[in-house]
Amino acid sequence: MSHFEQADAAASADRDLPTNSEVLMGDAATPDHSAEPPRSPRDFRWGAATAAFQIEGATSADGRGESIWDVFTRTPGRVLEGTTAEVAADSYRRYGDDVALLATLGVDDYRFSIAWPRVQPTGAGPANEPGLAYYDRLVDALLAEGIAPVPTLYHWDLPQPLEAAGGWLNRDTAARFADYAALVVDRLGDRVARWITLNEPAMTTLQGYALGTQAPGHALMMGALPTAHHQLLAHGLAVAAIRARGSAEVGITNNHTLVVPATDAPGDRLAAGAFDLVYNRIFAGPVLTGAYPDLSAFGLDAMPGLADGDLELIGAPLDFYGVNFYNPTRVAAASDGSEFATAGLPFEPVEFEGVPTTGFGWPIVPAAFTELLVSLDRDYGERLPPIVITENGASFPDEVVDGAVHDERRTAYLAEHIDAVRAAIELGVDVRGYYLWSLLDNFEWAEGYTQRFGLVHVDFESGERVPKDSFEWYRELIARERVARNQENGAA
Ligand code: BGC
Repeated sequence: MSHFEQADAAASADRDLPTNSEVLMGDAATPDHSAEPPRSPRDFRWGAATAAFQIEGATSADGRGESIWDVFTRTPGRVLEGTTAEVAADSYRRYGDDVALLATLGVDDYRFSIAWPRVQPTGAGPANEPGLAYYDRLVDALLAEGIAPVPTLYHWDLPQPLEAAGGWLNRDTAARFADYAALVVDRLGDRVARWITLNEPAMTTLQGYALGTQAPGHALMMGALPTAHHQLLAHGLAVAAIRARGSAEVGITNNHTLVVPATDAPGDRLAAGAFDLVYNRIFAGPVLTGAYPDLSAFGLDAMPGLADGDLELIGAPLDFYGVNFYNPTRVAAASDGSEFATAGLPFEPVEFEGVPTTGFGWPIVPAAFTELLVSLDRDYGERLPPIVITENGASFPDEVVDGAVHDERRTAYLAEHIDAVRAAIELGVDVRGYYLWSLLDNFEWAEGYTQRFGLVHVDFESGERVPKDSFEWYRELIARERVARNQENGAA
């Protein structure tokens, strides 16, 4: 039985789940919990997420070095409308305002990222004190509001000198990352209880090195595979460095999509399997099981770059597993003459039909989120630590009208996806937190400022912040959950 047949069988046999086919047809419904909403577990944590390069601006302040994204944004034709992140949401200077927004929102956790080039401007050597001091201030400001800091050590802003030495194609970058992680943990580890090593290594490999649509912009296709291994090795080495410093919890954030074959035809099913491998399984498998999945579909008998001892490091048990989810992906066999076939790839993503989409054009299928979480639980079983949703959200073209932003489509997306997480919890998946993407409108990578994901509208000219209607909705949700949690804790 194929992976998808198994998924369908499990869904239809003993679980109240939409099947893959229903998701594919766009008529899968999220289970209706309106009568009696299931409660989140007692220790469930609500949060919001951001990333340094997308919000901080101040790209040359206080000795910060250059990252691959500074170079990429300066290269003509790379970023929509030719914008850069030199100012972005100006959060490096306005972090106090942003912490105040988080406090109003009432989150338990704030997931932000630390810019490696602020800490090590060249990617090696001693720490740049003013860079570390910024994160020191941010952590203290969060703690003063009772918000737990959850830093991501790497959210895509590799120091440019490391890229000049081969970037993630170079195994040594993994060792450099572990050194950098140690510097940060030495400074903040007394106040940070939860660390995330990498954000979405799959996107760096696929978009940064295989397709070249994101920094550093290489189009190496399957030649990008060593960057997957070197990033995972960096994760493993950093986990060891963090644990050696006695710091509390550590995990990784992977981006996951539910892959559905375009049709039942064997070619489409095979293509979907291959896509699932490069997007999901190459990144989850070694971290969760200590082994790479079978790569023979790509004519490989082993992961390029793999050396003795690597998998022990990469597969060290984690305290939590971070999942980012935005949408499912429908995949067909690459059609003759398509850019995918020309590049030697067996698959081609195709559109879902009759499904609403976000401002980005991404399909909105909340049931796919439930199914994805259930499938992770089923596929990795006891090797899967508790899941934390480290990103989920949607972009829409919001506008401020009379001082307000009525973003009901975002609120609907969030409500449906949080319900989808609850449905997975009901079905036995151990999910311990939900961090919404994103607190602020920000620099959306190659899309520049054209995609707004924030709960808070940012005027990129003036820096002014205006909480959207979805901000108030999330604030009320967290407040209700907290009352329920406190009552349960009191009763326990
Ligand atoms: C990334 C974010 C990004 C979001 C929306 C995730 O892949 O981690 O940095 O803004 O998706 O595209």
